[in-house]
Amino acid sequence: MAYHTNKEEIVTTMARIIGGIAVSHTPTIGFAYDTQKQHDPVWEPIFKGFEPVREWFKAQKPDVLVYIFNDHVTSFFFDHYSAFSLGIDKEYAVADEGGGVRDLPPAPGHPALAQHIGASLVADEFDMSFFQDKPLDHGFFSPMSVLLERANDQWPTTVVPLQVGVLQFPIPTAARCYKLGQALRRAVESYPDDLRVAIVSTGGLSHQVHGERAGFNNVEWDQQFLDAITHDPARLAQMTHAEFAALGGMEGAEVIMWLIMRGALSGNVKKVHSSYYLPSMTGIATLVLEDQSVPTPGQVQERHRQHMATQLAGAQSLTGTYPFTHAVSLKAYRVNKFLHRMTQPAHRQHFLSDEEGAFAAAQLTVEEQDLVRRRDWRGLIHYGVSFFMLEKLGAVVGTSNLHIYAAMRGESLEEFLKTRNASVLYSVAGKDSAKAADWDKTRK
Ligand code: FE2
Repeated sequence: MAYHTNKEEIVTTMARIIGGIAVSHTPTIGFAYDTQKQHDPVWEPIFKGFEPVREWFKAQKPDVLVYIFNDHVTSFFFDHYSAFSLGIDKEYAVADEGGGVRDLPPAPGHPALAQHIGASLVADEFDMSFFQDKPLDHGFFSPMSVLLERANDQWPTTVVPLQVGVLQFPIPTAARCYKLGQALRRAVESYPDDLRVAIVSTGGLSHQVHGERAGFNNVEWDQQFLDAITHDPARLAQMTHAEFAALGGMEGAEVIMWLIMRGALSGNVKKVHSSYYLPSMTGIATLVLEDQSVPTPGQVQERHRQHMATQLAGAQSLTGTYPFTHAVSLKAYRVNKFLHRMTQPAHRQHFLSDEEGAFAAAQLTVEEQDLVRRRDWRGLIHYGVSFFMLEKLGAVVGTSNLHIYAAMRGESLEEFLKTRNASVLYSVAGKDSAKAADWDKTRK
């Protein structure tokens, strides 16, 4: 996203953080909702605690929730585990955690705000990871289903999910979470659109679900934590993971995610609701804080947007150069995924034996099919395909990298090879690509 503003003109329209919400995300909340336990005396206090938060959302009508949660090794597995993963997708489906998918609609995303937040956090030296095409588990949907009223089965607001990897150590410190929250505030408040944004953190309170200490709770600590997160978050930010685990259980240490929400608010907050109930394994808490601070001056936001734009300033004017941004990635995700799957033998065999069938199965658009069918290397780049997908397709169809470079430049292979010190052909083809030997025949 570019901010080509007139130097004299300061953009005063900006997104505003209207409040911070924190809630537990234990699966019991979603279970109680799905099995309609609203009037069961055991479960009723959960709904009573959530009711004022639900009313707050109804009255405040946020346009976007920045929704902080942790996945429970459902969509984010140990094959690639990240500390802070921001969702940039158009929508988020419900994950199957082993018992089928809950009957909830996908949550609509806000890709433009997500991209802005991502760019801002990275500019502020938080090396984020970014995700799309991932369903979200109970860490996200368990509280969502009880917090927001849905008319005609539609969610009333959009979301920007932020997944925090708290299950495989080392994990971010409490202090880092608090600082990320402060950076999140700069990110949201510099977004040049009049959006009402609520920051929602989920997780906790005290619980432990593994080992001989399973079932650990500490009601007294939970009460102290609820007070400290409101009035003294800096003290919580000094605590170690082990200190959180000793006081609130190992899995209860996920409450460090609440510090992201708290960091995104000013020191001047008003607590408008808080509740606590311990039915089984986890202290279920809700908290609503409203920020009472005055808006930051527009010049501060403008300066931050210029800071965000620094790294890529000028890159857009380099000829024949197309930075692979989130906007590009999102637009061309389907065709990039189709070509990425060329790393799987079954997919590439399907493609080689029945190209049209493979296009249809992947639901490529007519334009995407045409670009791949014609091996339009330059057109694919212009469309938003990563070069590293092109070389995979090249390996499958027997086209060398040098053929692709030449085609992108609009030159013949011979013309392009004359510009190289050595006239060689190569690709990323492995032992499956028997066509490599054809290259010399196709040189012309
Ligand atoms: Fe959790």
